[in-house]
Amino acid sequence: MSTDTGVHAPPRARLPVSTLRNDRWWVPQVLTIAGLSVFVIYATVRVFLQQNYWVEEYHYLTPFYSPCISTGCVDGAAHFGRFIPDHALIPYAALSLPFLLLFRLTCYYYRKAYYRSFWLSPPACAVPEPHARYTGETRFPLILQNIHRYFFYLAFVVTIINTYDMLLAFQTADGGFGLGLGNVILVVNVVMLWLYTLSCHSCRHVMGGRLKNFSKHPVRYRMWTRISALNTRHMEFAWISLGTLMLVDLYIMLVASGTITDLRFIG
Ligand code: FES
Repeated sequence: MSTDTGVHAPPRARLPVSTLRNDRWWVPQVLTIAGLSVFVIYATVRVFLQQNYWVEEYHYLTPFYSPCISTGCVDGAAHFGRFIPDHALIPYAALSLPFLLLFRLTCYYYRKAYYRSFWLSPPACAVPEPHARYTGETRFPLILQNIHRYFFYLAFVVTIINTYDMLLAFQTADGGFGLGLGNVILVVNVVMLWLYTLSCHSCRHVMGGRLKNFSKHPVRYRMWTRISALNTRHMEFAWISLGTLMLVDLYIMLVASGTITDLRFIG
């Protein structure tokens, strides 16, 4: 009896090549590996650096340190109090970062991206996967992907906090109004975070899921149609928001460390 499985199982046609695709189907997978690796390495290094995350003069706080709740956080940056121990292995934003990580990790788009690129399950349409068995997300640990909706609620709250940080940054250290390139980048980042969060499949379901009759729920229907439109661009927002997160963090790090000065328009 043959022990071949998957596309090599006996009922399947025997082909002399691993795939009949002759396009460059592997390009998106390589780009995904490169993009996600850059973000994960950058974010990990930054989160554990524990410095240059706050610009006192312009109230810029990087999202990687928000909310800053460690006893090691500088005074101005700790908008919500300091109540976790200062330790080299505990991120200053230890309350939000794990949930944001899990929100992205369980995201429907990122699942597709890393299942294809890292897990090769399968690498692309009409390209056989190396795994002998396929159990989908029906058993541990992948069945935990189903709790994505709860991470959505938590990420929603963190995005509100990021918005609060962005608004605070319009106030300079002397209490006046200020506007610099840092503010512009913070605003762009918050807009992208909202677009990513609101275009989430779980958000779409929260708005319009389980409704039997749209005409009886005109407000929810209207919001569902808007979110459905955003949802079609979820992948785009997923990537752009990763980029703006790194951009705003890098800019604030460079200003905070004195490597560059903020380009000021007002204040
Ligand atoms: Fe991507 Fe929810 S599906 S964040």
